[in-house]
Amino acid sequence: MLTPPSFRERTVHGDRRTPSSGRPGRRRRTVRVLSASLLPAAVLALRLNAQSPSADAASTMDGIYTADQARRGEDTYMSICVGCHPAGTYTTQAFKATWSNRTVGDLFTLISQTMPQNEPASLSPQEYAQVIAYILKLNGVPAGRGDIPVDPERLKRIRI
Ligand code: HEC
Repeated sequence: MLTPPSFRERTVHGDRRTPSSGRPGRRRRTVRVLSASLLPAAVLALRLNAQSPSADAASTMDGIYTADQARRGEDTYMSICVGCHPAGTYTTQAFKATWSNRTVGDLFTLISQTMPQNEPASLSPQEYAQVIAYILKLNGVPAGRGDIPVDPERLKRIRI
Protein backbone atom coordinates (compact mmCIF):
# COMPACT_ATOMS: atom_id res chain seq x y z
CA MET A 1 0.00 0.00 0.00
CA LEU A 2 1.45 3.29 -1.03
CA THR A 3 1.22 6.30 1.18
CA PRO A 4 -0.94 8.82 -0.66
CA PRO A 5 0.84 12.03 -1.44
CA SER A 6 -0.31 14.81 0.86
CA PHE A 7 0.13 18.55 1.01
CA ARG A 8 3.72 18.80 0.09
CA GLU A 9 5.85 19.61 -2.83
CA ARG A 10 7.79 16.94 -4.56
CA THR A 11 10.81 17.87 -6.55
CA VAL A 12 11.57 16.13 -9.78
CA HIS A 13 15.13 16.55 -10.84
CA GLY A 14 15.15 17.22 -14.52
CA ASP A 15 18.37 16.68 -16.40
CA ARG A 16 17.22 17.81 -19.79
CA ARG A 17 19.60 18.62 -22.49
CA THR A 18 18.10 21.52 -24.35
CA PRO A 19 20.62 22.59 -26.97
CA SER A 20 17.99 24.30 -29.13
CA SER A 21 16.81 26.59 -26.35
CA GLY A 22 20.31 27.60 -25.44
CA ARG A 23 19.71 26.82 -21.80
CA PRO A 24 21.75 23.74 -21.01
CA GLY A 25 22.21 22.38 -17.55
CA ARG A 26 20.11 21.02 -14.77
CA ARG A 27 16.67 22.28 -14.08
CA ARG A 28 14.50 21.62 -11.13
CA ARG A 29 10.87 20.99 -11.69
CA THR A 30 8.44 21.29 -8.86
CA VAL A 31 5.30 19.26 -9.03
CA ARG A 32 2.69 20.30 -6.56
CA VAL A 33 0.63 17.41 -5.36
CA LEU A 34 -2.61 18.35 -3.67
CA SER A 35 -4.46 15.12 -3.29
CA ALA A 36 -6.54 15.97 -0.24
CA SER A 37 -8.69 18.45 -2.12
CA LEU A 38 -9.55 16.03 -4.88
CA LEU A 39 -12.75 14.15 -5.49
CA PRO A 40 -12.94 10.47 -4.64
CA ALA A 41 -11.70 8.22 -7.39
CA ALA A 42 -15.16 6.71 -7.68
CA VAL A 43 -16.24 9.83 -9.55
CA LEU A 44 -14.05 8.64 -12.39
CA ALA A 45 -16.34 5.73 -12.97
CA LEU A 46 -19.50 7.82 -12.92
CA ARG A 47 -18.77 10.12 -15.83
CA LEU A 48 -20.58 8.49 -18.70
CA ASN A 49 -20.78 10.23 -22.01
CA ALA A 50 -19.52 7.70 -24.52
CA GLN A 51 -21.23 9.36 -27.49
CA SER A 52 -19.04 12.42 -27.91
CA PRO A 53 -16.44 12.31 -30.64
CA SER A 54 -12.93 12.82 -29.35
CA ALA A 55 -12.62 16.25 -30.99
CA ASP A 56 -15.14 17.59 -28.46
CA ALA A 57 -14.13 15.34 -25.60
CA ALA A 58 -14.53 16.93 -22.20
CA SER A 59 -13.42 14.00 -20.07
CA THR A 60 -11.53 10.75 -20.36
CA MET A 61 -14.89 8.95 -20.31
CA ASP A 62 -15.68 10.31 -23.80
CA GLY A 63 -13.81 7.57 -25.64
CA ILE A 64 -10.60 9.54 -26.20
CA TYR A 65 -8.20 6.71 -27.07
CA THR A 66 -8.29 3.56 -29.16
CA ALA A 67 -7.57 0.00 -28.11
CA ASP A 68 -4.78 -0.10 -30.67
CA GLN A 69 -3.20 3.06 -29.24
CA ALA A 70 -3.28 1.52 -25.76
CA ARG A 71 -1.71 -1.69 -27.07
CA ARG A 72 1.18 0.29 -28.58
CA GLY A 73 1.45 2.20 -25.32
CA GLU A 74 1.73 -1.06 -23.42
CA ASP A 75 4.66 -2.10 -25.61
CA THR A 76 6.41 1.21 -24.93
CA TYR A 77 5.60 1.05 -21.24
CA MET A 78 6.92 -2.48 -20.89
CA SER A 79 10.18 -1.65 -22.60
CA ILE A 80 10.91 1.78 -21.09
CA CYS A 81 8.89 2.58 -17.97
CA VAL A 82 8.20 -0.68 -16.14
CA GLY A 83 11.73 -0.92 -14.75
CA CYS A 84 10.99 2.02 -12.43
CA HIS A 85 7.17 1.79 -12.20
CA PRO A 86 5.29 -1.48 -11.99
CA ALA A 87 2.11 -0.99 -14.04
CA GLY A 88 0.08 -1.52 -10.84
CA THR A 89 1.18 1.98 -9.76
CA TYR A 90 -1.49 3.48 -11.98
CA THR A 91 -4.44 1.75 -10.42
CA THR A 92 -3.65 2.69 -6.82
CA GLN A 93 -5.91 5.07 -4.92
CA ALA A 94 -2.93 7.36 -4.50
CA PHE A 95 -2.47 7.71 -8.25
CA LYS A 96 -6.18 8.24 -8.87
CA ALA A 97 -6.38 10.80 -6.08
CA THR A 98 -3.46 12.71 -7.56
CA TRP A 99 -4.86 12.83 -11.07
CA SER A 100 -8.64 12.58 -10.89
CA ASN A 101 -9.24 16.33 -10.82
CA ARG A 102 -6.67 17.32 -13.42
CA THR A 103 -6.48 17.11 -17.20
CA VAL A 104 -4.93 14.77 -19.72
CA GLY A 105 -2.82 17.78 -20.71
CA ASP A 106 -1.35 17.92 -17.19
CA LEU A 107 -0.45 14.23 -17.33
CA PHE A 108 0.96 14.57 -20.83
CA THR A 109 3.11 17.55 -19.82
CA LEU A 110 4.47 15.80 -16.73
CA ILE A 111 5.29 12.55 -18.48
CA SER A 112 6.62 14.07 -21.68
CA GLN A 113 8.87 16.58 -19.90
CA THR A 114 10.14 14.52 -16.95
CA MET A 115 9.93 10.83 -17.96
CA PRO A 116 11.69 8.49 -18.33
CA GLN A 117 13.52 10.01 -15.41
CA ASN A 118 16.91 8.86 -16.66
CA GLU A 119 16.31 10.39 -20.11
CA PRO A 120 13.49 12.97 -20.00
CA ALA A 121 11.66 13.96 -23.18
CA SER A 122 13.36 11.18 -25.15
CA LEU A 123 10.20 9.66 -26.65
CA SER A 124 8.05 11.08 -29.43
CA PRO A 125 4.81 12.93 -28.57
CA GLN A 126 2.93 10.01 -30.16
CA GLU A 127 4.66 7.55 -27.85
CA TYR A 128 3.78 9.61 -24.78
CA ALA A 129 0.15 9.75 -25.95
CA GLN A 130 0.18 5.96 -26.40
CA VAL A 131 1.48 5.44 -22.87
CA ILE A 132 -1.34 7.64 -21.54
CA ALA A 133 -3.83 5.53 -23.50
CA TYR A 134 -2.39 2.46 -21.79
CA ILE A 135 -2.68 4.10 -18.35
CA LEU A 136 -6.34 4.95 -19.06
CA LYS A 137 -6.99 1.38 -20.15
CA LEU A 138 -5.44 0.06 -16.92
CA ASN A 139 -7.97 2.22 -15.06
CA GLY A 140 -10.93 0.73 -16.90
CA VAL A 141 -11.59 3.89 -18.93
CA PRO A 142 -13.50 2.88 -22.09
CA ALA A 143 -11.78 3.13 -25.47
CA GLY A 144 -13.36 5.10 -28.31
CA ARG A 145 -12.85 5.54 -32.02
CA GLY A 146 -10.09 8.12 -32.11
CA ASP A 147 -6.55 8.22 -30.77
CA ILE A 148 -5.59 10.63 -28.00
CA PRO A 149 -4.64 13.73 -29.99
CA VAL A 150 -1.12 15.07 -29.73
CA ASP A 151 -2.43 18.59 -29.32
CA PRO A 152 -1.64 20.25 -25.99
CA GLU A 153 -4.51 22.73 -26.26
CA ARG A 154 -7.08 19.99 -26.75
CA LEU A 155 -5.56 17.77 -24.09
CA LYS A 156 -5.84 20.61 -21.57
CA ARG A 157 -9.63 20.56 -22.02
CA ILE A 158 -10.02 16.85 -21.26
CA ARG A 159 -10.58 16.12 -17.58
CA ILE A 160 -9.27 12.90 -16.09
C1 HEC B 1 14.82 5.68 -14.14
C2 HEC B 1 13.54 5.48 -13.46
C3 HEC B 1 12.27 5.94 -14.15
C4 HEC B 1 11.86 5.65 -15.43
C5 HEC B 1 12.56 4.83 -16.51
C6 HEC B 1 10.53 6.24 -15.54
N1 HEC B 1 10.18 6.88 -14.39
FE1 HEC B 1 8.43 7.83 -14.00
N2 HEC B 1 9.08 8.40 -12.16
C7 HEC B 1 10.32 8.03 -11.62
C8 HEC B 1 10.42 8.62 -10.30
C9 HEC B 1 11.61 8.46 -9.35
C10 HEC B 1 9.23 9.36 -10.08
C11 HEC B 1 8.82 10.14 -8.85
C12 HEC B 1 9.20 11.58 -9.04
C13 HEC B 1 8.52 12.40 -8.03
O1 HEC B 1 7.28 12.41 -8.03
O2 HEC B 1 9.22 13.01 -7.24
C14 HEC B 1 8.39 9.19 -11.26
C15 HEC B 1 7.14 9.74 -11.41
C16 HEC B 1 6.28 9.45 -12.46
C17 HEC B 1 4.91 9.85 -12.55
C18 HEC B 1 4.14 10.66 -11.52
C19 HEC B 1 3.50 9.66 -10.59
C20 HEC B 1 2.36 10.21 -9.77
O3 HEC B 1 2.07 9.59 -8.74
O4 HEC B 1 1.74 11.19 -10.15
C21 HEC B 1 4.42 9.34 -13.71
C22 HEC B 1 3.01 9.48 -14.25
C23 HEC B 1 5.49 8.62 -14.37
N3 HEC B 1 6.61 8.71 -13.59
C24 HEC B 1 5.39 7.99 -15.57
C25 HEC B 1 6.44 7.39 -16.25
C26 HEC B 1 6.34 6.86 -17.60
C27 HEC B 1 5.10 6.88 -18.45
C28 HEC B 1 7.57 6.36 -17.92
C29 HEC B 1 8.01 5.76 -19.25
C30 HEC B 1 7.92 6.63 -20.40
C31 HEC B 1 8.44 6.56 -16.76
N4 HEC B 1 7.71 7.19 -15.77
C32 HEC B 1 9.75 6.16 -16.68
C33 HEC B 1 11.28 7.23 -12.21
C34 HEC B 1 11.22 6.73 -13.51
